[in-house]
Amino acid sequence: MLAFEDFFNQARDSRLGPYCETLNSALQSGFYQHLNGDLPDWLDTYKALPELVPDKIVFDAEAITFGSAEQVSDQQRQQLVDSLQLLHPWRKGPFNLFGVHIDTEWRSYLKWQRVEPHVRPLGGKYVLDIGCGNGYYMWRMMNQQPRLVLGIDPSQKYLMQFRFVKKYAPQVPLHYLPLRSEDLPNDMAQFDTVFSMGVLYHRRSPFDHLEELGNCLVSGGQLILETLVIDGEINEVLVPTGRYAQMRNVWFLPSCATLKAWLERTGFINVRIVDVGRTRVEEQRATEWMRFQSLANYLHPDDPDLTVEGHPAPQRAVVIADKP
Ligand SMILES: C[S@@+](CC[C@H](N)C(=O)[O-])C[C@H]1O[C@@H](n2cnc3c(N)ncnc32)[C@H](O)[C@@H]1O
Repeated sequence: MLAFEDFFNQARDSRLGPYCETLNSALQSGFYQHLNGDLPDWLDTYKALPELVPDKIVFDAEAITFGSAEQVSDQQRQQLVDSLQLLHPWRKGPFNLFGVHIDTEWRSYLKWQRVEPHVRPLGGKYVLDIGCGNGYYMWRMMNQQPRLVLGIDPSQKYLMQFRFVKKYAPQVPLHYLPLRSEDLPNDMAQFDTVFSMGVLYHRRSPFDHLEELGNCLVSGGQLILETLVIDGEINEVLVPTGRYAQMRNVWFLPSCATLKAWLERTGFINVRIVDVGRTRVEEQRATEWMRFQSLANYLHPDDPDLTVEGHPAPQRAVVIADKP
């Protein structure tokens, strides 16, 4: 059975100690009640992964890299490919495990390049990444030696992608709990930096999400929020009727001015939009590690400024804010 002892062992002796019981209850009443039917297969494959100690670990590169190709036999390499492909689709990355390059749907380093220059130094800090996906950005943060990085995301497949990778760096203070931000205790104001990237537009109530983010930050802590936006003036918001770029679960796409006002309304200060840009097919595309449709299929065939449904094409903003 999947356990989270590594996290709880580290958290118990940290600022998060008083919250361990509540976090464990949330896992018991959520995650453990809705286990993915493929989980037993994933766990068997995880246990059979080659036992290897990487001769290098590189966090500060486009592809997070564990070990080198010379460390594995052809047979081990094929075993790695087959095991990792079991967790298809790989959306966030790339990763390189012993020469196996996981060319993910997203070139996630492009987002990290837009975000990282605005993040306060993470050395010795407590960091929370809400909607962390398979953990790509958390690995990128490791270069700065934070005290503890916790990612939460309800996806059990992403949890397993994270675990497969972490097998080769078990000692790093980096953890993943399969929880939603709604599941977090609302008095856990313990994190110096909170990331929420690509989550706000999935929430039916953006204000509840912004409040959850604030609840997790220490006074003076920094929020890094990244989300889909539209061009427009203050109070302009797109609420797509039906799908947006083929996604069913997209609710609120504010203009930048609206997003800033929402953050101020929920009590954040020093709110600044530090980056706005269109998502390009060079950044999000199908690969052999993500064989489903991708951005090129979601854009209007006659007008790449529009989605297939006729909405404005995906444009994302990075916003930085402080908790007073
Ligand atoms: C578009 S992906 C973004 C992943 C990553 N943060 C990034 O920016 O590339 C959205 C992620 O948020 C997760 N998610 C959706 N609703 C969530 C919630 N309420 N709490 C935490 N994670 C959530 C999804 O499972 C998914 O992995």
